Amino acid sequence: MANPVNPSNPVEKPLLATLEGRQQKRPPIWIMRQAGRYLPEYREVRSLSKNFIEFCYSPDLATEATLQPIRRFGFDAAILFSDILVVPDALGQNVSFVENEGPRLPPLVIAKNLSELHGNIDLQRLNPVFETIGRVKEALPKETTFLGFCGAPWTVASYMIAGKGTPEQAPIRLVAYRHPAYLEQLIDRLVVSSISYLCGQVEAGVDALQIFESFAGALTADGVEQWSIRPIKRIIDGVRLRYPGTKFIVFGRGSGVNHLKYASLTGADAVAIDWSTDPAWAVEVLQPIKPVQGNLDPLAVVAGGAQLDQKADAIIEAFSKGPHIFNLGHGIVPETPLAHVEQLVKRVRG
Ligand code: CP3
Repeated sequence: MANPVNPSNPVEKPLLATLEGRQQKRPPIWIMRQAGRYLPEYREVRSLSKNFIEFCYSPDLATEATLQPIRRFGFDAAILFSDILVVPDALGQNVSFVENEGPRLPPLVIAKNLSELHGNIDLQRLNPVFETIGRVKEALPKETTFLGFCGAPWTVASYMIAGKGTPEQAPIRLVAYRHPAYLEQLIDRLVVSSISYLCGQVEAGVDALQIFESFAGALTADGVEQWSIRPIKRIIDGVRLRYPGTKFIVFGRGSGVNHLKYASLTGADAVAIDWSTDPAWAVEVLQPIKPVQGNLDPLAVVAGGAQLDQKADAIIEAFSKGPHIFNLGHGIVPETPLAHVEQLVKRVRG
């Protein structure tokens, strides 16, 4: 499926071209959570706002945070600075973040059958996010692909049900067994809301979208289609109904062999894989179907040294016969030394 590299036709946005199945001489690179606490300049602007969700809703600060990693490292993609939990927030479930602990929401009450949520997502509340997109777009170099995103319904719903992060997502898994009709309703609300939110992002100017199913690993083999694959497919189809041809990357973290379902059943243009996935397997099974994104262990970047170069080389070599986007297998961690990120980018660029 991969078209050969055509050096006489230099590509304006190498990452977008890769999503279209056009392999590049070197893989384009961006890093999940590239705008964040490992950057001193992020920590500085972050200190201007007490409340993380308000930071996400401040176009000045969010624009600056989106652009910081591009200025410093020249990544091939910028990812909108926001959070997956702005969707529940805009559905009326107030989200806050506790320092060093994580998100907090008033947990949904099953008996209330979603009466505590708005029927439709409040796009007005998300206007600052769309404004951020417009500002970033004006400031980005023309070769940089601009990625918008949302969380997949299962992952977002797990926070809405538990009111916080939970080990192995036990609360939502129990709801899936005890109250499947309720969960269907919640997932449906999130599908419709995510379509509106992502269409707003496309209108405002992003080039492509990533859907984060961070808790794919909590699903069983039969549950994954019902609670993750089909809702994601509905979102992708729904966005494309209004904006045909919209490009999607889908990331089913921890999904093992189910990465194949994300590649072949969601309609996404590329599949992102976590660090536990064997590149040899992904090259054989996934890459013939879709471009692959990934999959260096974030802690290999923390450790640095010769092993970092070796691991990066091995991933590039493994995926070298088809379209590949270099990335980590999950988000970069705050402890990562900047020099190691520089080393990695240099190595990937060759
Ligand atoms: O570079 C980027 O990716 C910036 C945009 C971004 C953030 N969160 C900013 C953020 C994106 C794409 C996300 C996605 C996100 N948020 C996911 C899916 C990806 C993943 O990591 O699995 C999830 C599950 C969340 C929910 C979330 N947001 C949690 C659990 C936390 C607290 C834990 C933590 O990492 O701090 C957040 C907060 C958050 N979102 C921060 C940032 C930069 C740190 C908060 C801060 O700076 O004070």
